[in-house]
Amino acid sequence: MKFFIDTADFDEIQEAYRLGLVDGVTTNPTLCSKAGCHDIAGFQEQIKRICDLVQAPVSAEVLNTQSEDMVPEARKLASLHEQVVVKIPMTVEGLKATRILSNEGIRVNVTLIFQAVQGLLAAKAGAAYVSPFIGRLDDINHTGMEIVEQLLTIFDNYGFDTEVIVASIRHPLHVLQAALAGADIATIPYKVLMQLIRHPLTDIGLEKFMADWQRVQRS
Ligand code: E4P
Repeated sequence: MKFFIDTADFDEIQEAYRLGLVDGVTTNPTLCSKAGCHDIAGFQEQIKRICDLVQAPVSAEVLNTQSEDMVPEARKLASLHEQVVVKIPMTVEGLKATRILSNEGIRVNVTLIFQAVQGLLAAKAGAAYVSPFIGRLDDINHTGMEIVEQLLTIFDNYGFDTEVIVASIRHPLHVLQAALAGADIATIPYKVLMQLIRHPLTDIGLEKFMADWQRVQRS
């Protein structure tokens, strides 16, 4: 399973990259605003900077909602760097834009997917990636991971190349479940990435090893 990092914060991406845990990056307007991008120029600059660092797919989301506006905006985003993947929302207008862009060879990540058939429609429109938001489904008392399993089955049934990005991950168990389901990619917030590394028994074990070694040095 590929690990994408779900943030637009350069320092977080750089730290995860140093750990060898960045096969790609996903951003969205909320994450970009949290990372301090306050205008289009700042947003585009940040996307280019991230692409230069990771040299792996970086999803950048369109800010228009009508296909005739999304398409030129997406072309502009794709022209920023060869690693840019354009993120398009799962709407009627988004599907129209996805079809046009994928025909032009621009990679599209269809986002805000909350049921498996939405993912099927996105794949039929030529999406390179689909992003089911599992945490937001869990939040409203649905089992988000079910649609990941359904999407994987559907894509396997019909031989789609579209990759499933498990998105809206809230905790380490989501990452485990994504891997057990055979998801192509999990996009993980920095905080959860760090939680994956740590275990209290690792810390206790290391402390004891160091203490035992120090005792021998003193004797
Ligand atoms: C990634 O593509 C999504 O934008 C992100 O995972 C959404 O996560 P959230 O539900 O925690 O905002």
